[in-house]
Amino acid sequence: MPGMQVILVLIFDILALVFIYWVLSGTLCAALGHTAFVPTIGKAKRLMLDEARRYLETFRGRAVVVDLGSGIGTLLIPLARAFPQHRFVGYEWIRLWCLISKIRAARLKNLTFRRQDFKTAHFSDAHLVLSYVGIGYAEKNLGDRLNRELPAGARVIAQSFRMRRLKCLRRIPLNRVGIPCFIFIYAVNRKGKQ
Ligand SMILES: C[S@@+](CC[C@H](N)C(=O)[O-])C[C@H]1O[C@@H](n2cnc3c(N)ncnc32)[C@H](O)[C@@H]1O
Repeated sequence: MPGMQVILVLIFDILALVFIYWVLSGTLCAALGHTAFVPTIGKAKRLMLDEARRYLETFRGRAVVVDLGSGIGTLLIPLARAFPQHRFVGYEWIRLWCLISKIRAARLKNLTFRRQDFKTAHFSDAHLVLSYVGIGYAEKNLGDRLNRELPAGARVIAQSFRMRRLKCLRRIPLNRVGIPCFIFIYAVNRKGKQ
């Protein structure tokens, strides 16, 4: 059936384009020392959101939640919708992703997206940090910085990339096509300001 063939060719083309994007952007960003845009989906998304919800449900007061490299708002938008009492901030340096996030979140008063390099941002008031970055600066410095600046009791939920200094409370396996991959749940590893 020609109609069916057209659909199959279209699906194949889309998959091929996604694959090419994935390989090219991954290679280019790794060469530049950056993390590429790969949105959190599937089991990883469910696990990260579940962990964040558990923390936010029992949080007393108004929590500040930050996503470092927020992409198109995949994680922050559902959380901001579920927890209008808390405040959410996403830092994303790619103009297009940031614009898409802002459009998607237009009605959410408790959610802000900033087009900014998170390395230059101030987020020492964050009680919960989400992260799916781990190349270059993030690999070397982010764990130390979070451990130094976040209030005691803060949590960090990191996908795939380990963070130094922070105390690992748990790691949840993702088992991606045979590649060992984890969601890491971290706490600040010092006594300090609340
Ligand atoms: C792997 S994606 C994760 C997106 C989103 N957090 C999610 O889980 O769906 C990483 C994102 O971080 C952004 N990014 C990487 N380094 C950044 C930096 N220093 N400042 C701001 N954004 C950054 C990339 O542009 C990309 O959109």
